[in-house]
Amino acid sequence: MRIAMIGTGYVGLVSGVCFSDFGHDVICVDKDAAKIARLKAGEVPIYEPGLDTLMEKNVAAGRLEFSDDLAAAVDGAEAVFIAVGTPTRRGDGHADLTYVMAAAEEIAAALTGYAVVVTKSTVPVGTNRQVQEVIASANPDADFDVASNPEFLREGAAIEDFMKPDRVVVGVESAHAAEVMSEIYRPLYLRNFPILTTDLESAEMIKYAANAFLATKITFMNEIAGLCEKVGADVKEVSRGVGLDGRIGNKFLHAGPGYGGSCFPKDTAALARIGQDHSFPMRITETVMRVNDEVKTRMVEKLRDACGGSFNGKTVTVLGVTFKPNTDDMREAPSLTIVPAMVGGGAHVRVIDPQGRAEGEALLPGVDWLEDPYEAAEGADLVVLLTEWNEFRALDLKALAARMAYPRMADLRNVYSARAAERAGFSQYIAVGR
Ligand SMILES: NC(=O)c1ccc[n+]([C@@H]2O[C@H](COP(=O)([O-])OP(=O)(O)OC[C@H]3O[C@@H](n4cnc5c(N)ncnc54)[C@H](O)[C@@H]3O)[C@@H](O)[C@H]2O)c1
Repeated sequence: MRIAMIGTGYVGLVSGVCFSDFGHDVICVDKDAAKIARLKAGEVPIYEPGLDTLMEKNVAAGRLEFSDDLAAAVDGAEAVFIAVGTPTRRGDGHADLTYVMAAAEEIAAALTGYAVVVTKSTVPVGTNRQVQEVIASANPDADFDVASNPEFLREGAAIEDFMKPDRVVVGVESAHAAEVMSEIYRPLYLRNFPILTTDLESAEMIKYAANAFLATKITFMNEIAGLCEKVGADVKEVSRGVGLDGRIGNKFLHAGPGYGGSCFPKDTAALARIGQDHSFPMRITETVMRVNDEVKTRMVEKLRDACGGSFNGKTVTVLGVTFKPNTDDMREAPSLTIVPAMVGGGAHVRVIDPQGRAEGEALLPGVDWLEDPYEAAEGADLVVLLTEWNEFRALDLKALAARMAYPRMADLRNVYSARAAERAGFSQYIAVGR
């Protein structure tokens, strides 16, 4: 199969690399010429574990190329994937489809033989049909079908998720498109991973429903955590007890500082907007969005209390600012609410993150970036564990406390325990829901 992947970001690059590893010939296209230049030089522009090795292997095998020439990549491709961004449109929460439709127009002009145009970007119900119309009207002679193939990979575990997915969802309307899609995913068919073939609208809806459900699950447990603090229960015990129920499952039940990331915030907003557009308000999703904002605000209050009621003049060390570990992605990270609130309140904030600095420097003005947690804790009034990178899971708490002016810890990921912190010499240990 010859595949063109339009958009070489977190999803496009991982998908392109993995498809080439399946044995297909893939050209990854991006309009960001600097990104393509880096990729051509063998450099991976994002942090995603294992991606560099897999990319190198498939480039060396001659199955994977990078280009900023969309037309050349589309010419002769049997499948053209659209994997461009669909951020929140300013002002109304709707998914911004500008990039998708611009890509569709460019693809239309470049199509030569029959191709399936596959939307991998997360898009509202009805978008695939719109893509079909855009291509048909831009190039009435084009011989093509559209397909919806939403992506479920998790940043930080993207390759594993792509290669061993819980399921692949494919929305199609023609037998020809179904055939092409099953050829593309043949290695997964052969290994019995579930491939759900359905209609376009259902495929589009599955992606939003899945993300909204996961955001709800997290937020539900974050709300339970707030109540645990009031009634003296331990949310870690509660999560475990709840998660052992096979009907519920133990994933996405960890209390923390609220969800963030490139997907949940924008996808819940888009689903809420789709509901409003159809006079069918998505009340649960709307509430989840509101509660999640409140969770982040509650964290700021928690930290302010830990600083004795004011951030002014305090030195705070923040461990981890990416939205989750094992990624450099800062999009909608809780740190973007919490850190500016501390800086704005007059705190001197020191930040450490194994991969977040390149993205985070511009987003978190007024903070000092350091490398070593112990050095960063020197003379500090509070240490905040905000993103649970492995590097922060086994800290020498005694050494950390010894360096601080006031040994206080706010563990917003519930990594440590009050007892361990106390034994290490911390005078105060604050967690979430415990
Ligand atoms: N990031 C995730 O974990 C994840 C998971 C599942 C689904 N998704 C969905 O996948 C889509 C892409 O997300 P992402 O995180 O990879 O975005 P991203 O911003 O990392 O990458 C998008 C890329 O598309 C490029 N682009 C835009 N228009 C283009 C055009 N006309 N031609 C060529 N390149 C173009 C941009 O330059 C950019 O490099 C979104 O719809 C997102 O919701 C993301």
